[in-house]
Amino acid sequence: TLRCERVLQLTLAVIKPDAVAHPLILETLHQKILENNFIVVRKKDLWWRRKDSESFYAEHSGRFFYQRLVEFMSRQGPMIIIYIPCLLYSGPMRAYILAREDAVAHWRELMGPTKVYRARYTAPNSVRALYGLTDTRNTTHGSDSTESAKREIAFFFPEFSVQQWLDKEEQRFR
Ligand code: TYD
Ligand code: MG
Repeated sequence: TLRCERVLQLTLAVIKPDAVAHPLILETLHQKILENNFIVVRKKDLWWRRKDSESFYAEHSGRFFYQRLVEFMSRQGPMIIIYIPCLLYSGPMRAYILAREDAVAHWRELMGPTKVYRARYTAPNSVRALYGLTDTRNTTHGSDSTESAKREIAFFFPEFSVQQWLDKEEQRFR
């Protein structure tokens, strides 16, 4: 008997505030996800507080770009008595759980290298080369391994169980 083999992998993709702020870029990136045969498993627009940003990027704490990165992903304004949300937060971002064969590597391939100048030289059609503004405002995030995908999916979608989703998907193709 023939069995339809699909080895699906999950990854976490984020469209960062610089790209969400531009409606055409946001739409283009969404289309790119669909054109590349990713299944959109979950999608969520959200804002980060500074502590979310610090904890998500904890592995980079101490690097020269850490403060800049944390502030870009969740800008915090000056201490003020009156609560003004627009001063306390940076722009919204959009997070996706994406499924595909080889999802982790494929999404990172589409993004291109971290640094925009390098992306423009070595991968001129990549997302970061086309739409990135700076090394920090580089349009997108993507998990770098299946382990970090699992951790990062839990960070953005705490109610989602990776294992349960993969099990269910496998059953559908039994
Ligand atoms: P990193 O995990 O090295 O890159 P990637 O996003 O490709 O996995 O770094 C995380 C983020 O930190 C990166 O997307 C943007 C920021 N960053 C800088 O602002 N400057 C830098 O030189 C580097 C390496 C990263
Ligand atoms: Mg990384």
